[in-house]
Parts: sequence; C-alpha cells; structure tokens
Amino acid sequence: MTTTTIESNLQEQRLFKPSTKFSQASYIKSRSEYNKLCDRAQENPERFWAELADSELQWFKTWDTVLDWQPPHAKWFVGGKLNITHNCLDRHLTASSKNMPALVWQGEPGDARTYSYFELHQEVCQMANVLKQLGVTKGDRVGIYLPMIPEAAIAMLACARIGAVHSVIFAGFSAEAIKGRLLDAEAKVVITADGGWRKNKVVPLKTQVDKALASGEVPSVESVIVVIRTGQRIHMQPDRDYWWQDLQNGTSCDCPAEPMDSEDPLFILYTSGTTGKPKGVVHTVGGYSLYTHLTTKWAFDLKDTDVFWCTADVGWITGHSYTVYGPLSNGATTVMYEGAPHAGNPGCLWDVVEKYGVTVFYTAPTAIRLLMTFGEELPQSRNLSSIRLLGTVGEPINPTVWMWYHRVIGAGRCPIVDTWWQTETGGVMLTPLPGAIPTKPGSATLPFPGIVADVVDLSGNPVPVNEGGYLVIKQPWPGMIRTVYNNPDRYLSTYWTKIAPKDGQYFYFTGDGARQDEDGYFWIVGRVDDVINIAGHRLGTMEVESALVSHSAVAEAAVVGRASEIKGEELVAFITLKPEYVATEELTQTLKQHVVHEIGAIARPAEIQFAKALPKTRSGKIMRRFLRAIASGEEVTGDVSTLEDRTALDKLRS
Ligand code: WTA
Repeated sequence: MTTTTIESNLQEQRLFKPSTKFSQASYIKSRSEYNKLCDRAQENPERFWAELADSELQWFKTWDTVLDWQPPHAKWFVGGKLNITHNCLDRHLTASSKNMPALVWQGEPGDARTYSYFELHQEVCQMANVLKQLGVTKGDRVGIYLPMIPEAAIAMLACARIGAVHSVIFAGFSAEAIKGRLLDAEAKVVITADGGWRKNKVVPLKTQVDKALASGEVPSVESVIVVIRTGQRIHMQPDRDYWWQDLQNGTSCDCPAEPMDSEDPLFILYTSGTTGKPKGVVHTVGGYSLYTHLTTKWAFDLKDTDVFWCTADVGWITGHSYTVYGPLSNGATTVMYEGAPHAGNPGCLWDVVEKYGVTVFYTAPTAIRLLMTFGEELPQSRNLSSIRLLGTVGEPINPTVWMWYHRVIGAGRCPIVDTWWQTETGGVMLTPLPGAIPTKPGSATLPFPGIVADVVDLSGNPVPVNEGGYLVIKQPWPGMIRTVYNNPDRYLSTYWTKIAPKDGQYFYFTGDGARQDEDGYFWIVGRVDDVINIAGHRLGTMEVESALVSHSAVAEAAVVGRASEIKGEELVAFITLKPEYVATEELTQTLKQHVVHEIGAIARPAEIQFAKALPKTRSGKIMRRFLRAIASGEEVTGDVSTLEDRTALDKLRS
C-alpha cells in the first residue's frame, strides 16, 4: 500500500454538554464514570467483558474461557452456550413486559402493525418451525431478501432461533448481486416477498430472486419462501416456492431456542471492499450478542421504556445491530419504517416520530442533508418533543448539518451521538456516551469503553496530535468480525497486514483516515482505500469497475468518488471503449443501466466520461488521484513524473 496523505482541516471549538437532567438519568453519568470504565477495561480486559457478559445476558451455560486470542483470530466466551433470540425475546416474556410493544412498523402506503414481545416471540417460533420443516438445520445458510417489513426481523430471528445462519441481502441489490451472495453463502433457503413499496411504486423482489435462481444457477437453494406484501401477480415455481402465510398456517408456535456455542456463526453480511467481489463478514453468537446489547444500552442510553427508531434498512449492519438485535435485547420498542425518507410526503419521517412517540432517533447524515432541503417548517409543524436523544452513523457529519440536527430536530436540548463503526466491528466503536461526554459537532469523540483505538502511521507508530493517520483498533473486542466467509486469506490481508504487527501488537486496519485532537477526540476523515460512501452506503469502486468491464463495449474502466451535496459522494466512471464502439449518449445510458443490472441502483454512476486512454503509472496502475481531481473539476496537481503517457492526462482534462 502506498502512503496517502490524510488531511483534515476541520477546526471545531464548540462544545455541547448534556444537561444535568439528562446525565443524571443516564447509565453513564459523567466523564469520570466513563474514565473509570475505561480504566477497568484497561486493567483487565477479560474481566471487564466477562462481568458484562454475565450481568447483561442470560446464558444457558457459562463459558470456560473469556477470550482465546490467537492473533488475529479471537474467540470470545469459549464453551458458553446461549441463543440471541432468548435474550431478545424470551427473557422479556415476564408478566410485566410481555405485552409491551417490541416492534412497531409503519408501511409506506400507510398500513401499520405492532407486535408485543409475546406476539413477536410467537411469530419467530412459528417461522423457526417452518424453516425446520423445510429441512433447515443448525449451520445452514438462509438468504433474506425482503423490504422493510416486520417479516424481515422475524425471518432473521427465526434463523437465529434454530441456529441457521442468515445472510440478509439489501432489497436494492440486483439479481446478479443476489446470485453472487447466495452462491458464496451456499444458501439452502431464500426468504423474499412478492414486492416492496418504495416511493409509491412496487419493487419486484420475487422477480429478482427468480432471475438470480434461473436455470438452477444457485444449486444449493431448495426452497423460496414468499411473503405477500404488495399482492401483485408473480410466478411461483412448484416444489420450490411457498407462500410465507401458507407455511405459517397451522404451524406450532412452540420452538425452544437452540443452545448455540458462543462462537457458532450468527450471520454473514456481505460488504464492499477494495476488490471486485464483496466479502462475507462473519459474526458469531456470543460476542455479537454482548456487543450489540451493550452498545445499544450505553451509546443510546436505551431503557426498556424507550421507542428507538434506527432508520437503517435491515440489509445493512446498522439495521441488524440497531433495528433488530440491540433494541430487542434491551427490551425496548424498535420502530421499522418501509418507505424512503421522502416517500409521498417530505414530512413523513416526522409523522412517524410523532405517531409513535419516538424517543431515540438514529439516522445517517445523508438523510439529514436531504431533510434540510425541505426546510425547517416541516419538522417544526410536527410534535417532536418525545425525542430525547439523536444519533448519526455512516459517514462524517459536517458541523453545519450537525448544528441543524441539534437545533431543529433536537430543539437544542437533545445530545447527539455521532457513532463511528463498520460492518466488521459489529457495533459502535467510537461514540460519545450521551450523559457523560460533551460533544463537538463533527467528531465521533471517544472510544466505547473497552475499545482501544488509535491513529497511527503505516509503521504502526501513533501520529502526533491533530495529524492525520490511519484509524486502527489495538485490542480484540467481542463484536469483531471473525473471518471472511470462504476466504480466510482475505480476512488476514484486508484487516491485519496493512499495518504489520510489531512486538506482538496487532493492528486492526479500519480503512479510515482520522486524527485525534488535543482532547483525544477522534475526527474521521473518510476512507483511505477504494471504498466510497454513497448516501451512507458502502460501495467498492472496483465492484463498479468490474460491472462496467463486463459490458461488451468497455475496454477499461476506472471509477472514483466525487463530493455530492446530499449523497456525500457520487460515482464518476472513466471509460475507454473497444475499437468498434463509439461514445454516444445512448451508450452512456446503456452503461449506467448495466451497472444497475449488475449491482443495483445505489451503484448507478452519476457521470460517465469516455477517454482515449486512462492515465497510468509506468507500472500500469491507474492514477486515480488524477481522475478524482478531474471528476471534481479541480486543478490536477502533484507529481506527474510517474505518468506513463502525459497526453492521456491532457486529453482527459480537455
Ligand atoms: C464510514 C456502517 C464517519 C466509515 C455502520 C466506515 C463513518 C464505513 C461513520 C463503514 C461516522 C461509519 N463518521 N464515517 N460516524 N460511521 N462511517 O460497513 O468510512 O456500511 O469505514 O458500516 O462508514 O460502513 P459500513
């Protein structure tokens, strides 16, 4: 890897302290309490995590070994047995909580459903039995391709109940993307819906699954379960496709939670990296259960009386950890919403907050930027007084956007937790604990207790205060990725060798650049690799390049990110065509559509530029630095001495 200059010029002096009232009512009430937790964790990390695992979760059998760390492979709570659905459901079936709302859901067309803990438990057990009847057993993989409807959460929990490994595929991904994921995971069953509602239109989900499975291309898939959501006609293949509702009818609601080994896999979630192929991030039951439970509790100060709305789709890690597992484990009410932030009416998010009395609201900066464009009147015309805490995730939040969120949505009284984390980390890693840590707009502040984060250079040496470097994690934590499914080498090369271990110290490489200020606060600069962040969604530029070159017209493609006001970043593709093709507007549209076909709408390039040649180094590497500058209309500066053909650059510039 080459050295990248990581610059961050953001200077922010404003400090926002939580009110005394907020602090006093929260789990962690002060900086000194936070410091004490960190000190305890530092003194004896294993004891720290073990005490929490013991007090926060119910285990069927306690563990023999807290941590087995054979760098870079960690096993947590080895020998312990538990089931995450027991902690998310069964333990809340007491007389006082079983009728509390576990899940409230708002459909885009206006329909709504509420499940109490008792009802959710029944539904999950029933679907777990359905999966068993279809021959799914512990360790089998189940693909889930559903819109944001309660069945998505129920399907995930039903898998976890019997020890099947779920792999949720975001409903915006194309048939090609589904196929790749199902093949890699060797899924036995796929759970989908006839369609989903998005912006008043039906998204044809089952049709995508049919295309992905066409001509038996994914031989492992034996059955497809289809939820009726939109009611439009779809093809049902005999002996393969079954209606969810039919399977459920008459099936028993009695299904004891399978005792899982702490290190049994819970799920695989595919995420983008720096190569063309997404990687299957594997999380395991014990560590993930504890880490999502605890981060939800402390970072969101979540009580069982809270109504928590994390707006993320369950197709992403944020939806896994903070729509499904974390809030349920804490006995709170989780809110699920089917629509886009501006589906039908630009105030629809605030309608949901008002209707359900949301107390903790968690979203991405890109959504806030979009909502800002609709003006202040909309949120101000709704009653948002139930909100007591706000959160953001997914990308750096610009201080102006932070201030708007604070003033307009939080009425100046709600703390904001800017949470930095990744699919691989399982849960929040850098975040203010809202009752304890004063915030600075734009900073994710400090590590979660027990997390050892640092900013270092490529040799692993900490960089001086306020200097940019690589964000790394220096000790294992319970929620960490265990491996890349089917690809242990990639686990090593992506996360553990970019910064070589030294003196027994391993560095988990996050792929993000950051700096730490004089108060030790972390400021995330953004990715230092070829991963970009479009509207809070992670995408590898290589994936898009692979999609483009799979089209017959394309000889070579290079894709870079360019700043975009609402989405944060957007894609610009530079393309050289095969000799027999000419660049036309029609071809531009065809190629954009081709990317949508190969990956999904989130990957559609904002712009395609045709070039005679791409600027390359003498060793043949595409010089993306130049392309990024050209895409943004900036002056191309810096060293061009390694450029193979200077005229390529001049032609591009013109
Ligand atoms: C980025 C999403 C700045 C970062 C949970 C990371 C952030 C990537 C923040 C992971 C934040 C996430 N501030 N950047 N608060 N949170 N990121 O795997 O670049 O979809 O590496 O997980 O999002 O994206 P992923």
